[in-house]
Amino acid sequence: MTTPATLVLHGPNLNLLGTREPAVYGSMSLAALDRLIQDHGRRRGVRIECRQSNIEGQLVDWLQGAAREGFTGVVLNPGAFTHYSFALRDAVSAITVPVIEVHLSNIHAREEFRRHSVIAAVARGQISGFGPQSYLLALDALLMPGHNGPTAVRPPKARHSRRKAGSRPGNKE
Ligand code: DQA
Repeated sequence: MTTPATLVLHGPNLNLLGTREPAVYGSMSLAALDRLIQDHGRRRGVRIECRQSNIEGQLVDWLQGAAREGFTGVVLNPGAFTHYSFALRDAVSAITVPVIEVHLSNIHAREEFRRHSVIAAVARGQISGFGPQSYLLALDALLMPGHNGPTAVRPPKARHSRRKAGSRPGNKE
């Protein structure tokens, strides 16, 4: 079995963590957040590499290269690209390495434009609203059986689709 290795990607403006809107994003700097992530990775026996870019194309290049660089999972905070970058979405969709989308803040409880993610539908899952813990939860999610490869478990089909026709009055399935 290959040693798990996770690439953690921080998108635009996350280099400003610590001073950027602390009421929303907290007071931890990006360097401190990366140390927290590295410590968690060490405890879990996962090799971690953290990178940050304000440039969409750089994030696309890192996603495309993740498998080639030996990463078995990606934790991605796309920042504001979450809400409109089809280039990032296509990159996540194109690669077989599982990608978990994370957010420090709860994007669903914020302004209308933040409530939609164009990435979520092609990510393995989304974790939002737990501050720095969002990243640690994502690392743990990647370690769950079946979640660390291209054949990872997909959500089960809705139960009613397996119900036999006629098992419920008026059911014409
Ligand atoms: C963010 C939420 C985004 O809406 C915002 O543009 C960010 C940070 C978060 O981590 O909460 O830059 O991704």
